[in-house]
Amino acid sequence: LDNGLMRTPPMGWLAWERFRCNIDCDNDPKNCISQDLFRDMADRLVEDGWRELGYVYVNIDDCWSSMQRDAQGRLQPDPKRFPGGIAKLAQYVHDRGLKLGIYGDLGTHTCGGYPGTTLDKIETDARTFAEWGVDMLKLDGCYSNATTQELGYPLMSKALNATGRMIGYSCSWPAYQGGLPPTVNYSQLGEICNLWRNYGDIQDSWTSVLRIVDWFSDNQDILQPAAGPGRWNDPDMLIIGDYGLSMDQSQSQMALWAIMAAPLFMSNDLRTLSSSARFILQNKVAIAINQDPLGVQGRRLLKEKSGVEVFWRPLSEGASALVFFSRRTDMPFRYQTSLRKLNYTAGTYKPYDVFMEKPLGLLKDSTDFVVSINPSGVVMWFVPPAAQWQKQAER
Ligand code: GLA
Repeated sequence: LDNGLMRTPPMGWLAWERFRCNIDCDNDPKNCISQDLFRDMADRLVEDGWRELGYVYVNIDDCWSSMQRDAQGRLQPDPKRFPGGIAKLAQYVHDRGLKLGIYGDLGTHTCGGYPGTTLDKIETDARTFAEWGVDMLKLDGCYSNATTQELGYPLMSKALNATGRMIGYSCSWPAYQGGLPPTVNYSQLGEICNLWRNYGDIQDSWTSVLRIVDWFSDNQDILQPAAGPGRWNDPDMLIIGDYGLSMDQSQSQMALWAIMAAPLFMSNDLRTLSSSARFILQNKVAIAINQDPLGVQGRRLLKEKSGVEVFWRPLSEGASALVFFSRRTDMPFRYQTSLRKLNYTAGTYKPYDVFMEKPLGLLKDSTDFVVSINPSGVVMWFVPPAAQWQKQAER
């Protein structure tokens, strides 16, 4: 969507995967969906260096609202859990240089059973969100049908635009249509949404990450051209820092999401995050690769019999990124290749190992090299041409 927003994939924090629909503030006040939770996360984003790295969205997901609309038919937050209201929360977030996202659903109910945005409510809800000072809307598709979706998703896009407030628009539409053409029309999506969920929900497990990576890679010929500045495929949240991934698997998720030009929405508890998870999520070069201004989504280049897969993403200024990913479950695997075998044009490059945070020597396209890839781990390289690296060094 060419609304000037999200020219690079949006980054921030989203409540769903980690905090779900926990509304039990009486017994679990620190972890329930409430204004306090979002304020806590906003504080962490600012104080722990996330904001400066680009993680600026604080996004509310399902279960924020009251079970009833107000007397004017508007959505309202649960009065016990959001006593200050959403506008106040938006103010809190804005005061800290962050942005607020909210969640709605184009159906009779949200997936969690809260009031939905039926077609007749689209304009009202768009106006309400704008009045509150919301910066992003995720519009889900539970309890709606194909006809409603076909009318509703474009209608909400228009309604948000008509509010005059810049609101990033995340559409779950394709995820409810099976994610593929001919049902899904990706050129239309690119015109009406800034990002879209193509596929099922991420869960806190490596199996879930693999399933998503497989689906996105198997369908990359369709998905990759759909992405670009202002329009992104969304393989769902980062679960780094939760319970399901080892450190190698966490690096793999970060690397693959960066290659896929995926939105980087963490769903974790920033208050108790381990420093190892923080290092991975705050890796500057991985983030720079994800945020490359060219905005071209990467691809899986190779699927070796050994269980190694190679991913590649073209970046601005003739640079690129490579991810060597091992699906093996035995021991670190020594993978031998050359840049020429990975379709690089003839020349000399100066790779940088993203997670080792270490520059490597000059590398000619024809020279064979070996990377040692841990089981379910990655080796990630930033690969500028040597000439460009030299220019940067001189600056
Ligand atoms: C759907 C979405 C999730 C989350 C839940 C909330 O499953 O895909 O991302 O928003 O609904 O109920």
